[in-house]
Order: sequence, then structure tokens, then C-alpha cells
Amino acid sequence: MIQQISAEETYRTRQQVLRPGRPLRECFFEGDLEAETIHLGYFDEDNLMGVATYVPRKNGIFDAPFQYQLRGMAVLPEFRKKRIGENLLLEGEKILKQKNPGVLLWFNAREVAVDFYKKYGYKTIGSSFMIPNVCVHIVMYKNPTDL
Ligand SMILES: CC(C)(COP(=O)(O)OP(=O)(O)OC[C@H]1O[C@@H](n2cnc3c(N)ncnc32)[C@H](O)[C@@H]1OP(=O)(O)O)[C@@H](O)C(=O)NCCC(=O)NCCS
Repeated sequence: MIQQISAEETYRTRQQVLRPGRPLRECFFEGDLEAETIHLGYFDEDNLMGVATYVPRKNGIFDAPFQYQLRGMAVLPEFRKKRIGENLLLEGEKILKQKNPGVLLWFNAREVAVDFYKKYGYKTIGSSFMIPNVCVHIVMYKNPTDL
């Protein structure tokens, strides 16, 4: 049910969930087209229900030499609470660990989603901050040994 997809295939879902009413170009994220970036899609037959993207990006607040940033985690409203988000997160962790067991995964979490990530062992660090035109976020991460 989970497949690796192209950056382009994520844009409509990102737009519906994360940037409703905003132009599609606001759904193109930095790093989307890099060779080591991983885009995952959760499908029911041909219907794309959720997406998540993993970009190789270091955040200077962490020492780990091998880091990835999770971006664009989005499940369409009608398919929520069916473990699609969980599956996209766990599959991403699995792929990244295979690349490098020492990987640290971090991201800017929407405040409304913090408790979702906490269920999977992610911790917040630092203060919350506003991403203009989007909403309040806070950095979350999981140590390599916990991944
Ligand atoms: C957050 C999101 C990805 C979760 O996806 P989902 O498929 O609905 O979540 P799951 O069904 O996998 O949920 C797994 C568990 O997390 C819980 N959960 C889901 N969303 C939650 C939330 N926003 N806050 C707290 N808990 C949440 C579920 O109740 C479930 O708990 P359980 O194990 O006790 O039954 C999805 O709601 C979404 O796309 N939201 C809008 C966009 C967004 O906020 N994205 C994150 C950007 S950082």
C-alpha cells in the first residue's frame, strides 16, 4: 500500500491538506528533487490517500552527522485515523535506518500534530515558532538509537 512516488505526485495532496486555497507552487518544497530525497505515498488501489517526504538535511542544533528532515506529512481528511500517518512514518523510519542506522530524523511539527508524533517516541526541542502563512510549529526529533 505504500509506494515511493515522485515529488510531483505529492503536490495535490500537500495542497489539499497543508496549503488549502494556496497556489500549487507553494507545495514545492526545497530538496524535493534531490536524488536522495524519498517521497512516500499511501494508496488504496489507485487512490492516493496520504504522503510524506524525507529530505537529507542537517539541522545545526543536532550533532548527528547523518540527518533527514521529514516534510509534508499529509493524510486527506476523509482517510484520517486509519493508521495511514503511522504507516508513512514507520515506513520512512525503516527506509532511513537501512540507509544509515545512525540516522537522526527531525522536522518542524505543526503544534496540532505534536501528540501524534509523541506516540512514536519523538520529542520536542526549543520554543515554538510561526511559519508565515502556515501555522505555529516546533522542532521534533528522534535519536538514532530510538529509531
Ligand atoms: C497528523 C496526521 C498525519 C495523522 O495521520 P492519521 O493517518 O490520521 O493518523 P493515524 O491514524 O496513523 O494515527 C495514529 C495514532 O495517532 C493519533 N493521532 C492522529 N492524529 C493525531 C493528532 N493530530 N494529535 C494527536 N493524536 C493524533 C490517532 O488517534 C492514533 O492514536 P491511537 O494509537 O491511540 O489509536 C493527519 O491527521 C494529518 O494529515 N493532519 C493534517 C496535516 C498535519 O498536521 N500534518 C502534520 C504536519 S507536521
